[in-house]
This record gives sequence, structure tokens and C-alpha cells, in this order.
Amino acid sequence: MTESFEMSSPKRFSPSYVLPSCTLRSLRRDDLEAISNRLAEMDPWKRLGYSPEGLVGYFQRPDPALYRYAILKSGLPAGVFCFRFPWLMGPFLEVGGIYPEFQRLGVGGELMQWIESLEPGFRNIWTTVSSFNIRSLKFCHRHGFRETGILVDLIKAGHDEILLRKTLIKEL
Ligand SMILES: CC(C)(COP(=O)(O)OP(=O)(O)OC[C@H]1O[C@@H](n2cnc3c(N)ncnc32)[C@H](O)[C@@H]1OP(=O)(O)O)[C@@H](O)C(=O)NCCC(=O)NCCS
Repeated sequence: MTESFEMSSPKRFSPSYVLPSCTLRSLRRDDLEAISNRLAEMDPWKRLGYSPEGLVGYFQRPDPALYRYAILKSGLPAGVFCFRFPWLMGPFLEVGGIYPEFQRLGVGGELMQWIESLEPGFRNIWTTVSSFNIRSLKFCHRHGFRETGILVDLIKAGHDEILLRKTLIKEL
């Protein structure tokens, strides 16, 4: 007898996680306006011309492979973190935005450690960073990501996206 493929797979990751200094909680509809307004006034989204309305559309679009979390620190909204899984033998970190007042407190580093620690372990972690986003590129390099490609004019003409990969497990 032939087995059929599951059309809608169960969610692979939990709706919330407690990290050492922050928590992740699945995005809710009532988070979207505030998060989108904050991102639209921050680089790289500001420089790339994202509008709050466009970001709300992205965050609420049905997309079973996109895991979307609000970042809370001491109960306060501190940013947003979205990753796509499955992607290329590992997750693709699609949005990582920590509000300026919560940056440089170690939250970004915790998120990197956390995603690497998820079971049963990924072979790769991927992300893209805009070519002008030097601080974020440095951050990714320090966390072991290496540049693997340049996606010319991907989001906006004149700005390339750098594709970065961290290899975790080399052998199956
Ligand atoms: C890039 C980003 C995700 C990093 O997150 P973060 O929470 O600021 O990262 P960390 O605090 O772990 O590390 C950042 C810096 O703070 C320093 N730091 C970490 N913990 C610290 C602490 N307790 N006290 C002081 N400094 C600290 C780190 O050494 C690091 O130094 P650097 O700025 O010279 O690179 C965040 O800054 C951000 O959201 N930026 C804007 C959006 C963006 O560019 N997103 C990525 C591309 S989509």
C-alpha cells in the first residue's frame, strides 16, 4: 500500500521559548502594528524602503514554513525574530530586529546560540544581510557565518544582499 504525503505537517517548533535573558513568543495579531512601525523606522528596513503596511502584510501572510516570534525582555517588547524552516538543509534566518534600546545587551548572541541548540541539530544556518549593514555583517562573522554569495539588487536596486552560511554538521 502506498503511503500518502502529509499535506500540512505539524508545527516543528514550540510557540514559546525561554532564553537566558529574554523570551520568544509566537507573534500575535495585536503585535503586528507596533513591530512593523518600529522596524520601518530602523535600518536596514528603513533604508530599503519597507513601509509599516508592507511589513504587517509580511508578518500576517499565511506561510507554514515561517516561524515568527516576538522577543520580550523583562516582559517588554524588544524586537522580532523570524526564521524559515525547512530551507537549505537548515533554517534561513529571515528577520532579526532588536530595537535599538535593547541592542548590545547580548540578545542577538543568545538567539544565535539558541537556534544552533535546537534538536535534532541543523547542518547549516543561513541568513542574508544588506551590503551596507556593516555592523550586522560583523556580528554574523563573529558568530561563525561565512559569505557564500552576493544577491545583486535583491530587494532594492543599488543594494546587494550578502548570503551567509554557518556550517554546523559536515557529515550526515
Ligand atoms: C545585529 C543585531 C541582530 C545584533 O543583536 P544584539 O542584541 O545587538 O547583539 P549582541 O548584543 O549579542 O552583540 C552585539 C554587540 O554588543 C556587544 N555585547 C554583547 N553583550 C554585551 C553586554 N552585555 N554589554 C555590552 N556589550 C555587549 C557585542 O560584543 C557586540 O559588539 P559589536 O556591536 O561590536 O558587534 C541587532 O543589533 C539588530 O537588530 N540590529 C538592527 C537590525 C539588523 O541589522 N538586523 C540584522 C539583519 S536583518
